[in-house]
Amino acid sequence: MSRLYNSRKRILVTGGAGFLGSHLIDRLLALGHEVICVDNLFTGTKRNIEHLNAQPLFEFMRHDVTFPLYVEVDEIYNLACPASPIHYQHDPVQTTKTSVHGAINMLGLAKRLKCQILQASTSEVYGDPTIHPQTEDYWGNVNPIGPRSCYDEGKRCAETLFFDYHRQHGVQIKIARIFNTYGPRMHPSDGRVVSNFIVQALKGEAITLYGDGYQTRSFCYVDDLIDGLLRLMDSPPALTGPVNLGNPNEFTMRELARLVLSETGSSSPLVTQPLPQDDPKQRRPDITIAQARLGWAPKISLSEGLKPTIDYFQSSIGRSRDCLDAN
Ligand SMILES: NC(=O)c1ccc[n+]([C@@H]2O[C@H](COP(=O)([O-])OP(=O)(O)OC[C@H]3O[C@@H](n4cnc5c(N)ncnc54)[C@H](O)[C@@H]3O)[C@@H](O)[C@H]2O)c1
Repeated sequence: MSRLYNSRKRILVTGGAGFLGSHLIDRLLALGHEVICVDNLFTGTKRNIEHLNAQPLFEFMRHDVTFPLYVEVDEIYNLACPASPIHYQHDPVQTTKTSVHGAINMLGLAKRLKCQILQASTSEVYGDPTIHPQTEDYWGNVNPIGPRSCYDEGKRCAETLFFDYHRQHGVQIKIARIFNTYGPRMHPSDGRVVSNFIVQALKGEAITLYGDGYQTRSFCYVDDLIDGLLRLMDSPPALTGPVNLGNPNEFTMRELARLVLSETGSSSPLVTQPLPQDDPKQRRPDITIAQARLGWAPKISLSEGLKPTIDYFQSSIGRSRDCLDAN
């Protein structure tokens, strides 16, 4: 029975004004649940949730998860954390605090409320992997003192905390290891490869490939990913995870660039720049567990998912031009 004494749940989404969080909230509201969105608006924006303002079942709270939070809810999705290197390296100490203190605060809340909590973990816990594709039992190859460590090690420590609260206090946990996800509402200038390439192509600027452009990534469309998070939250309590969620189809950066050029009709040239430190050469999820235990696999191909993503960036570039014109 939920706190509302009916089948509707009241659900907390931290990081709800961000890219993934705002899509998750759309889906939870569409399922008839009440949602409290907690966000400090570091990388998220009110624009991502402005269409929900008139929704009586939606509530926004500006709050930083590194401080304790007192709300009454039935479930918690913990997504609060900057996700792109530009943003998480901007204030690395705060990034670690967000992962670690944020996890402690949200787990403490889940413990008091005796409610289930899902952690948005990341494929970055595998670092620069030495096995390929990555299975959940791989412990990773992470530099603990590099510029990406605040994010990678912060997320690894959060996973440790989730399992210790589970073993020590009986908190019901779910851990999703999310691989590269893209779609509308990604931040246009956060340096992630899909948004970078699309914005460069739409503006007719050169497309920047780091290294030789033959390193690979797999890209999951946001709707598929949200479907995986909902299934994981609804799975039997014995399934704690970690569960990999991502699209196993692998593309080189050159292939992605060519696809973006053909979908946008752009003739931007490709240019190369040195590879950033600790950039993983290959990343691809093994999704056997998600397939077997959640009945989940991504359905949307890269070229299908790029279309709405490109439309979104086209309209946001248009909107920012309108703002400049108006000033
Ligand atoms: N998008 C991906 O490809 C991807 C991949 C792996 C993991 N993840 C994880 O999923 C989650 C969401 O990622 P996203 O892509 O939507 O990123 P995002 O930056 O768009 O969203 C993160 C949100 O968290 C908020 N936030 C940051 N610090 C906070 C704090 N201290 N208190 C409250 N709110 C805070 C931000 O303002 C933002 O709204 C993150 O935890 C990220 O690590 C995302």
